[in-house]
Amino acid sequence: MDIRTVGVVGAGQMGNGIAHVFALAGFDVTMTDISQDALTASVEKIAQNLDRQVGRAKLTEAERDAAMARISTTPTLTDLGKLDLIIEAATEKEVVKHAIFAELLPHLGPQTILTSNTSSISITRLASQTDRPERFMGFHFMNPVPVMQLVELIRGIATDSATYDALEAVVAKLGKTSASAEDFPAFIVNRILMPMINEAIYTLYEGVGSVKSIDTSLKLGANHPMGPLELADFIGLDTCLAIMNVLHDGLADTKYRPCPLLTKYVEAGWLGRKTDRGFYDYR
Ligand code: CAA
Repeated sequence: MDIRTVGVVGAGQMGNGIAHVFALAGFDVTMTDISQDALTASVEKIAQNLDRQVGRAKLTEAERDAAMARISTTPTLTDLGKLDLIIEAATEKEVVKHAIFAELLPHLGPQTILTSNTSSISITRLASQTDRPERFMGFHFMNPVPVMQLVELIRGIATDSATYDALEAVVAKLGKTSASAEDFPAFIVNRILMPMINEAIYTLYEGVGSVKSIDTSLKLGANHPMGPLELADFIGLDTCLAIMNVLHDGLADTKYRPCPLLTKYVEAGWLGRKTDRGFYDYR
């Protein structure tokens, strides 16, 4: 399977990072979102991030211009029907993903590979809602996508090896590294990362350390690029809570119980950087 054209559904933080790296690697990218404002903002963000790379002499102006020229947008999901690969990067809500697939599928060519950038939802269950479980996979990018080297590849129970091989080759073409994960709750990265973040929140909740001392401890004591609370704000506390709930429900072990302080912050609408308030105040 020779993949050249890519559709990205969802123009949020992950969608724009995914469009950025695909365009830079020479793929033609079509982005779609229900919000025209989100699409416009996303293209602006990609231009800014590419400009930053030019400013740091990581890219030439010609490479930036060529990448921007490969990106187009459409407000109509069904315009993605003829592309080789679709990456769903919409909100992390299963009903939203199902609705997107239901609208898209009647327009999709038989060979198109359909993927989801979900960070924790069962790939097998998502695939079962489509007409192509053998050409459906989890395709999980890390945030910020242009910087992070890893892409998790998750097979559903019915995914065929041609689909896996095609996506593995795409990751290599992006200049990134893939890791294969089985389809269990939160796969590998979030299975390990989220309980650490949740434990950092318990450490705060129980008064063992302040926000500053917890983050300083992990940054300087374990060489993490960001402290766990800063990272939670960066990822989004709603996303952290959703993933902890998937782990708790899916693995039925109290060690994955979301910290009540995390739940309270989400209830307050303190979701981290995106709302200007989380464990830190960004106002
Ligand atoms: N988009 C694009 N590029 C970005 C960026 C963004 N949002 N943020 C930073 N960069 C680039 C910068 O341009 C810079 O590039 P060059 O090296 O080419 O010049 C590089 O990243 C480093 O940036 P800075 O010097 O400004 O900042 P930094 O050194 O503090 O690094 C960071 C920032 C890369 C985000 C670093 O703090 C880091 O690695 N943090 C941890 C991130 C992480 O763990 N991500 C995974 C989250 S979990 C996940 O994504 C899975 C999930 O499902 C929830």
